[in-house]
Amino acid sequence: MTIDDDPSGGGERSSPPVPERGTAHELRRYEALFAARTRGMRSSAMRDMMSLTERPEVISLAGGLPDTSTFAPELYAKLMSKVAAESTARALQYGPTEGMACTVECIVEVMAAENTHVDPDEVLVTTGGQQVIDLMCKAFIDPGDVIVAEAPTYPGAVPTFDAYQANVVQIEVDSDGMPIDELEATLDRLDSEGRSPKFIYTIPNFQNPGGVTMSLPRRRRLVEVAREREILVLEDNPYGLLRYEGEPLPTLHSLDAQKAKRGGASDFIVYLGTFSKIFSPGVRLGWAVAPRPVMEKLNLCKQGADLCSSPVTQLFVAAYFQERSPSGKPAWLEHLDSLKALYRTRRDAMLRALEEHFGSSAQWTRPQGGLFIWATLPDYIDTTDLLARALESEGVAFVPGRSAYLDGRGASSMRLNFAGMPEQDIGEGIRRIGKVVREQVGLFGTLTGAEPAPAEQPPASVDPGLAQVVELPNREQRESKRRSS
Ligand SMILES: Cc1ncc(COP(=O)(O)O)c(C=O)c1O
Repeated sequence: MTIDDDPSGGGERSSPPVPERGTAHELRRYEALFAARTRGMRSSAMRDMMSLTERPEVISLAGGLPDTSTFAPELYAKLMSKVAAESTARALQYGPTEGMACTVECIVEVMAAENTHVDPDEVLVTTGGQQVIDLMCKAFIDPGDVIVAEAPTYPGAVPTFDAYQANVVQIEVDSDGMPIDELEATLDRLDSEGRSPKFIYTIPNFQNPGGVTMSLPRRRRLVEVAREREILVLEDNPYGLLRYEGEPLPTLHSLDAQKAKRGGASDFIVYLGTFSKIFSPGVRLGWAVAPRPVMEKLNLCKQGADLCSSPVTQLFVAAYFQERSPSGKPAWLEHLDSLKALYRTRRDAMLRALEEHFGSSAQWTRPQGGLFIWATLPDYIDTTDLLARALESEGVAFVPGRSAYLDGRGASSMRLNFAGMPEQDIGEGIRRIGKVVREQVGLFGTLTGAEPAPAEQPPASVDPGLAQVVELPNREQRESKRRSS
């Protein structure tokens, strides 16, 4: 119990108890003081849910969490001791805003694993990849400025875009990511309205939340479009190294750098990377790679935000990257291999469970990597309402689709994380969601007289093709649906 919970006021205070006041009164008291930009601010759906989903009885398929339980505790202790023994003063001191050289070296190594060669002087170490999104908005967005993003988009970027009062235009993805011809049509329209976007925001690999990957022809065309129109692209790539099958695709940064012919530097791509999904979100370290003038502005913006990212965790990451497995392989790459094997199994478990418990009442994506599956239910089901029911009656959570849109769309979709839970919890979690979905489908049938979707399907064996491609309805299907409605 805290002192605020104690009706006696902690037993030591002699002043009379303060009468209770409603939240409305409290709000009014500060309202006039808040900046205008706070009016559009919304809490991230995932952040809100973290407190609910931390209840031990809840199976949460909601978070963006990687599994950190597989990291060897002895190695963690060894690395922390090493930092303490060898670098106490540096670890406890402020560091440079752009990041410590030893950490930048690790970033260059991760980027090389993505076949992307970067100049260390173009790297800014940040407090998570999330800070890159914030700094990009801080550096480029005045209220009303346009950002073009995918639909759905990363739910964690939505509150940031809101906070800077950006006008976000979202382009619906299909199984090959953002359709670039639609992007070009949108850019033409915006141009004709005198509203050129400040940047295009894309998550090309195993998109959060859609699970889709941008095809190579679209990557090439996107880079051409950025160059032709001189628009920046923020390439958000936390998941590129978490590929479970298929061939890796080049980063937008590397494609642009080929064209720029400036020794690996890119002209129009700002690259966002992070240690969160390949190692640990707890170290809160990410990075931006950007053309020098952009880098300088981002650096200035970061100075105002936090001066520098934690030297303690920067040194920890640097110590980790020096570790070698008995075979001589870098320990981080070995750990990455084990994460990929684990997540692949979990993805397959979720796909099987979806076949079994969602059956014909839903469509879902089949990602080749990353952490997420995006499921879409019949459009009369609102997943925000469904979440309340699922949490209350079944103790299971997911991210409702609306949180991935800025304009209220996405109501019948949900994001499911397959990486952070053991296989049996994935199966059980999907079974519980499937149960609430079937109840809703049945209720709709009763109320409207419509044929309810078939009840629970018999277990289906996994189609070997499942893991190949994503099944977002493609554009032709969407268009013919639109025409016929
Ligand atoms: C697409 C995307 N971008 C950025 C982030 C931010 O990650 P972090 O701040 O942990 O590096 C995430 C986290 O889930 C993400 O999925």
